[in-house]
Amino acid sequence: MSDAVIYQVEGDVAVLAVNNPPVNALSHAVRVGLVEGLDHALADDTVRAIMLIGMGRTFPAGADIREFVSAPKDPWLPEVCNRLEAASKPVIAAVHGTALGGGFEVALGAHYRIADDKAAFGLPEVTLGILPGAGGTQRAPRLGGAEVALDLMLSGRPMKVTDKRAGVFFDRVVSGDLRQAALEYAAEIIADGANPRPTRDITDGFRDAADYQSVVQDKLAEVSRRPEIAPVEIVRCVEAAALLPFDTGMAFERAAFDTLVASDHSDALRHIFFAERKAAKLPELAQGTARDIDRVGIVGGGTMGAGIAAACLSAGLRVMLVERDGTLLDKGLSRIRDILERDVRRGRLGIDRFEDHLSRLQGRDDLVAMADMDLVIEAVIEEMDVKQQIFAQLDGIVGENTVLATNTSYLDINEIASVLEQPEMLVGLHFFSPAHVMRLLEVVVGERTGADAVATGVALAKRLGKIPVRSGVCDGFIGNSVFAAYRAVCDFMMEDGASPYEIDKAMRSFGMALGPFQVSDLAGLDIAWARRKRLAPTRDPADRYVVVADRLCERGWFGQKTGRGYYRYPDGARKGEPDPEVLAIIEAERAVAGIVPRSFSVKEIQRRVLAAMANTGARLLREGIATRPGDIDTVLVHGYGYPRWRGGPMKTADQAGLLALKADLERFAAEYPRFWQVEPVFDALQREGRHFSDLDRES
Ligand code: 3HC
Repeated sequence: MSDAVIYQVEGDVAVLAVNNPPVNALSHAVRVGLVEGLDHALADDTVRAIMLIGMGRTFPAGADIREFVSAPKDPWLPEVCNRLEAASKPVIAAVHGTALGGGFEVALGAHYRIADDKAAFGLPEVTLGILPGAGGTQRAPRLGGAEVALDLMLSGRPMKVTDKRAGVFFDRVVSGDLRQAALEYAAEIIADGANPRPTRDITDGFRDAADYQSVVQDKLAEVSRRPEIAPVEIVRCVEAAALLPFDTGMAFERAAFDTLVASDHSDALRHIFFAERKAAKLPELAQGTARDIDRVGIVGGGTMGAGIAAACLSAGLRVMLVERDGTLLDKGLSRIRDILERDVRRGRLGIDRFEDHLSRLQGRDDLVAMADMDLVIEAVIEEMDVKQQIFAQLDGIVGENTVLATNTSYLDINEIASVLEQPEMLVGLHFFSPAHVMRLLEVVVGERTGADAVATGVALAKRLGKIPVRSGVCDGFIGNSVFAAYRAVCDFMMEDGASPYEIDKAMRSFGMALGPFQVSDLAGLDIAWARRKRLAPTRDPADRYVVVADRLCERGWFGQKTGRGYYRYPDGARKGEPDPEVLAIIEAERAVAGIVPRSFSVKEIQRRVLAAMANTGARLLREGIATRPGDIDTVLVHGYGYPRWRGGPMKTADQAGLLALKADLERFAAEYPRFWQVEPVFDALQREGRHFSDLDRES
């Protein structure tokens, strides 16, 4: 029998233990093993009940996502679930860890369910652009009703078995030895002479039929507004569960699953699932060892420093905040307190834990306090001199094992490291604002950054629940380099004839959370203005420079916080209104530049943005700043509001077709060659019939 499912008989119970580390995904070998084990148990007259359990850390956490690229091999998972359900002897699922997707569907196919009290279960397929395709859409509503079934399927979030809504799915929740408890439960079932209890046979309108329909209709209206295609299909399948006989409902589910799994959305979502995990495997981890981190020093209590401190406290670390003087220190400490209090108000943090977090926070106005820290993160203003001074001082204060990190978002880490006695101890840790919320962490590796410092940065990311992505050193690292190209191309289009409002709308309809000009208004135009002024002396006069943003800043229009920017925000409104005066300023500047305005279609705006992002990504790959295309995608999805269901710009480029994109780039390059230098990889990949995702697979 297959090694992927271990078959044992204990008394009169056959135990089928899934053995496919790390998450017991229901790969082909597991499906074969389950069917073989089932047949064996049914043929053995001494066996009176069958138990399914997962070995290692979890009950199966789903179908094997890697198998979705090719036609499934027999037996398919829906068939496995059907066969378990049709068994003539009681089948008991014993659930621990995370019974997700196909794993939970297997449990739904069983007749009885017992769970460890720490277990969770769920139907996260929607996060992969698909729906539960092994009967989940038909069995979950039969057992639980429409509301809880739709909640599981549309949110994709796991639910704890101890949640009161989970009771409809689990017959028994136990603590301690699950296998033993499940054997005892099986013995009771046998002793009671209880029969198999197929979920498919539930036909009572799944509780209140009218209520069921109204939940379905409400959800349909709600999900129709979502850009992804899977949610609507999920609701339709749940509706079908109540309206159609079980087998017809299963066929309905299968047809929807087949359509979704072949869709671009699912392709993109599966890509980003694996890209996030691969990104965290930095090459330096093979050579370096992470230092143990307990005490984290943070220099600078501004927005970033406070956010980083809050993230560290929430992860159970001790934090020492250092500011220049007592007043700034008090401000920094109260910023941290405010963040945590907000979490309490929103119900995300209990008062006990709030007190515990604060008890691990200290503050001083002297860098000497950093002497016994395991890690020190600098989060002061973006000025090389200031940063160098701080690190030069820290060099004389911290021990030789202390890892140093800078939160710079643009500056040259090699230059910062030059003031250090041990430059190998410095790593860039670029957090995104708000730092206690955003999951992305760019781990910036300088020329002399040591592998231990990198490993420590990655360990910190994991401790904080963040996704680390490696970036080499360049102006803006991965994220801000791609974003700068995006912003530039939007400015060019604005000067050439598109209004900022048209561009924002086009990018929102592409799926961006906000349009680029809305982002500028929200972030504050003054920050980018200060940077432009700083860079002005070294700017190449041959570069195209759009002055509109400067004109707005000269008027004191810094965006939402000043009531005006690209948009108007009357009476402190959060949502901006188009501003005719801004359009007049743009028009005047076009005239000065001698530009005759032309119109841009939504499609052209989106294509230019995609071309700029993907071409910049390709350059970062060539320069070795980014390790793989999936890293760039992970950064853009997690740090810049790029729609997850498009998978990131490199994935969108693959889907748009590299030949077509190269043709676009060449057309744009004819207009402005300095900006649009077509990266050679487009030609190379397209000639070989390959994609950026092939580079991911090979890395
Ligand atoms: N298929 C294939 N590989 C999977 C997988 C799956 N369903 N789930 C996890 N893995 C892999 C990961 O890629 C990773 O591989 P790596 O070590 O080579 O990078 C490894 O297993 C460990 O995963 P994580 O790093 O994510 O481990 P965690 O402990 O942090 O999380 C988890 C465990 C909560 C189970 C998480 O992996 C997860 O959420 N997995 C996906 C669950 C899921 O979406 N299931 C539904 C699948 S679709 C389905 O079932 C369709 C059905 O309806 C027909």
